[in-house]
Amino acid sequence: MQKTQRMQKNNTLELGVNIDHIATLRQARGTSYPDLLEAAFLVEKAGAQAITIHLREDRRHIQDADVYAIRKQIRGRMNLELAVTDEMVNIACDVLPDDACIVPEKREELTTEGGLDVIGQFQRIQKATARLSEKNIRVSLFIEPNIEHIKRVPDIGAQIIELHTGSYANAQGDEQQRQLEIIQQATAYAHTQGIQVNAGHGLDYENTTAIASIAEIRELNIGHSIVSRAIFVGIENATRQMLEIMHKSRSSQA
Ligand code: PXP
Repeated sequence: MQKTQRMQKNNTLELGVNIDHIATLRQARGTSYPDLLEAAFLVEKAGAQAITIHLREDRRHIQDADVYAIRKQIRGRMNLELAVTDEMVNIACDVLPDDACIVPEKREELTTEGGLDVIGQFQRIQKATARLSEKNIRVSLFIEPNIEHIKRVPDIGAQIIELHTGSYANAQGDEQQRQLEIIQQATAYAHTQGIQVNAGHGLDYENTTAIASIAEIRELNIGHSIVSRAIFVGIENATRQMLEIMHKSRSSQA
């Protein structure tokens, strides 16, 4: 009942910004910058409701210390993406993010490829969902926009899904329109089942409009395109600031 009320009242579309790739840049050099917390503060200042991070098994970008620091410092919601392993569920139960998004994870992948196998991995996901829910962490399942998969969600015990928009984002023309319709139908079905629908992956400054127009979607999680755009809205200023330092040091010698 409470859940239905929240869904009916809340007609806004929220944004979770995935800041993993700011950590990718930091890890590339092993420096202390770019500072993830500073990025999180600016993302919040701009109006995003959630900071999304994915602690991967191989720790290629986000580190354990980042997860704890972000939990402590941000004001808005924290959405932790995690694979369905005991290690990750233990960390989530210790960190207590507001939201945990269970994702599939393969070591060799460049990014999360495809949604969860909610049929083959049913019991594992169900057990992880129960452990996280016991700690009052809201669990979402990152799944393909497939009605057969959505049908399994209530039995798993999750109330939220994040629909994988990767196939839509990677498609062009008519195929993109077809993928959009699949997402629209999956969203409509999930909504009738009382499941909150979020969406994400591959959303950028061109393809987000159509997804954001699906009225029942409550939240988008977007990372790579925002971090990429940040370079171009910032690099001019960053270059100017370095030139200023250089010119000042020469003029102080004169
Ligand atoms: N949602 C989930 C579950 C993801 O795994 C990712 C990528 O980490 C995203 C959203 C964000 O995808 P992108 O970086 O392509 O915007």
